[in-house]
Amino acid sequence: MPFRSTFDCLWCGTSHTCRGPDDLEGWAQLCPVCIGKAGDNGFLRFRLRQALAERGEASRRATPSDGSPEAAGSATVPSPPTASSAIPAAVDPERSLVEYYEARAREYDDWYLRRGRYARGAIHDAAWAAELDAAGRWLDGLPLRGEIVELAAGTGWWSPLLAGKGELWVYDAAARPLELARERLMAHRLRAHLHLRDAWEEPDRAVDAVFTGFWLSHVRRDRLEAFLGLVRRWIRPGGTFAFIDSLPDPASGAADHPAPVDDLAVRRLDDGRTFTITKVYRTPGELAAALREAGFIDVEVSQTGRFFVLGVATRV
Ligand SMILES: C[S@@+](CC[C@H](N)C(=O)[O-])C[C@H]1O[C@@H](n2cnc3c(N)ncnc32)[C@H](O)[C@@H]1O
Repeated sequence: MPFRSTFDCLWCGTSHTCRGPDDLEGWAQLCPVCIGKAGDNGFLRFRLRQALAERGEASRRATPSDGSPEAAGSATVPSPPTASSAIPAAVDPERSLVEYYEARAREYDDWYLRRGRYARGAIHDAAWAAELDAAGRWLDGLPLRGEIVELAAGTGWWSPLLAGKGELWVYDAAARPLELARERLMAHRLRAHLHLRDAWEEPDRAVDAVFTGFWLSHVRRDRLEAFLGLVRRWIRPGGTFAFIDSLPDPASGAADHPAPVDDLAVRRLDDGRTFTITKVYRTPGELAAALREAGFIDVEVSQTGRFFVLGVATRV
């Protein structure tokens, strides 16, 4: 189906005008509300999957053969379509991931705090708060010490807790979240080393512990083994890898975020921009098996209930 900037939603009939030529709505010809229901509805899911494929195909045709970065990126810029901007940008979920979190930095903690679009009603939000608290207590109870590296640390929600346990290096590929992490640590009067650094960059030393929060679910299935190998190289023998990640509860994300389709999730910001990113939900059993295969021992992966998976393992 070709992209249409103005259309009547194929499911509910509501008229919708796209903000830009890369809007998934225009490819699916579904309004944002119906896109938000795609996780529970076979037809909507089918349309969404087709739209992702069609938008990807169109962008592949439009991308110069030299793959110049100027032509890549999947953020939707809310400006009126022009002759050149009518070409949809390429969907590269890994590049899009950094752009998305860079753009989302100021609203990221709304997710933790269940504010705005992330408020899902008193019952769900109370369960969320209780499980988040349990995750924090679990992390606090781990014997993390010495030199600790936090990869893809974002706005540093977990950084004060980690900084209280050892000498902490806080790394992320996006600058704005890292700035918020810095402010958070300063508010707690805690010190850490904060640097822009890609989580895939090869370690330059070995440390006592590595932590990742909600990062493994952004690692593609075919790259998990490679990432766990990299984590292993970060850690001294006897050191610890700990992580917290997401379970696929429908009330976990914003009300207008559909469930991922084929490990790709469409995420929306408060200003309406949309991004397509990798989001892979893995069971505790899958994660435990992957850790053992990567050479970790004393592997313990559990879940808080509905929302979080908690994992810890020792590097041999
Ligand atoms: C879901 S957030 C997690 C933030 C934080 N760890 C937490 O638990 O709240 C994912 C983070 O990964 C970062 N990120 C995305 N791609 C990255 C990459 N290639 N290397 C390092 N960080 C990356 C984003 O900037 C974002 O801050």
